[in-house]
Amino acid sequence: MLNEKLLNLLNQQVNKELYSSYLYFTMSNHLHELSFYGASNWFKKQASEEFEHATKLMDYIHQENGKVHLEAIKVEQFKFQTLKEAFEITLKHEQYVTSLIHDLFALARELKDYRSEVFLTWFVNEQSEEESSVNTLLEKINLIGDCKNLLLKFDSELASR
Ligand SMILES: [Fe+2]
Ligand SMILES: [Fe+2]
Repeated sequence: MLNEKLLNLLNQQVNKELYSSYLYFTMSNHLHELSFYGASNWFKKQASEEFEHATKLMDYIHQENGKVHLEAIKVEQFKFQTLKEAFEITLKHEQYVTSLIHDLFALARELKDYRSEVFLTWFVNEQSEEESSVNTLLEKINLIGDCKNLLLKFDSELASR
């Protein structure tokens, strides 16, 4: 049986992961319209990973006899024009999600809910990987600078994710 406060936070996290999925689909579509087809593909893959995270959390809530509450999702429309901006938005968002996961983990630990703590370890590691991969992409983008040829090459590399 899950503690009520923890269950509420887990539910909030399900909705944040679904929001992330929706956010990345929106960005993927916007990048497609900007003709960054590789990056568009990268964000589409990212969106389905976030959907899987939501599924993982819902499965865990059910496994522990909790009830899932889904909320309406609203995502702003983007005006960014560059890959750099797209990945900066992503890094900021992932850092925010990391802080939410850490709050959840801290609560599970405080409650001595060892099961939830072990379950959440996967998300702690996942956030570390996500931040690191986005950081690497941003470093590459910074090295590329204003070189259009390299930028297009970088974009096509993102197509193979
Ligand atoms: Fe996620
Ligand atoms: Fe993520």
